[in-house]
Amino acid sequence: MSAVLKVRVWRGGARGAYREYEVPRRESQTVLDVVTHIQRALDPTLAYRYACRVGMCGSCAMTVNGAPRWTCRTHVDKVAQDGRLSVAPLKNLPVIRDLVADMREFFDKWARAQGQFKGGRTRADDFERIAPGSEARRRADAAIECIGCGVCYAACDVVAANPGYLGPAALNRAWTLVNDARDATNAERLRAVAGDDASLACHTHLSCTERCPKALSPTAGIAGLKRAVSRAALRGEL
Ligand code: SF4
Ligand code: FES
Repeated sequence: MSAVLKVRVWRGGARGAYREYEVPRRESQTVLDVVTHIQRALDPTLAYRYACRVGMCGSCAMTVNGAPRWTCRTHVDKVAQDGRLSVAPLKNLPVIRDLVADMREFFDKWARAQGQFKGGRTRADDFERIAPGSEARRRADAAIECIGCGVCYAACDVVAANPGYLGPAALNRAWTLVNDARDATNAERLRAVAGDDASLACHTHLSCTERCPKALSPTAGIAGLKRAVSRAALRGEL
């Protein structure tokens, strides 16, 4: 292991450029550790985003050597090539500055996909319980661990070609709620994900599933949505 890592970091907005820094190598060093070292020791004007540092908040995703990754759980040993790293903001999103992508359209698409839980009970009702070991609970749990990191969205070729496409994360969220027996708005949600900019646009390239750091399969969820949309259309519910 060489003592120094050469790191190219994107600086500026969409028309910015890479700047190179030298960062000391350390044991068990993550890409987020490298970016933090640059900001704290070499260039305090570097903008980047993180919160939890333990793979829970989803805020630290960046493009590392060309691929989207969560940086707090990505070890330098795994991704450095000949002692070199390149770090840039996530693709398929506007750049605010340096390593910070603007996540607004990403989360606006969750809202467009009806990604909010809407139960059918009132405050006066008891909780609706889904038994932990039940099939209904297993279905709802399958895609629920999404941390909203945007890695799948940045990896998606369909989003790159069609910026109006809802994308894998919003559709994965819609699929989770379609499978939640307590949610009361599935007809509305299926209408929201039925269009050409939604589930039908997915070409099953599997990039989202290959890159998701939580090992989720948005591709499988989108396929499930396509089936649910078809069944609802045949029943005349859309
Ligand atoms: S589905 Fe995976 S890659 Fe996509 S936002 Fe959720 S956790 Fe991140
Ligand atoms: S800093 Fe929270 S997931 Fe990386």
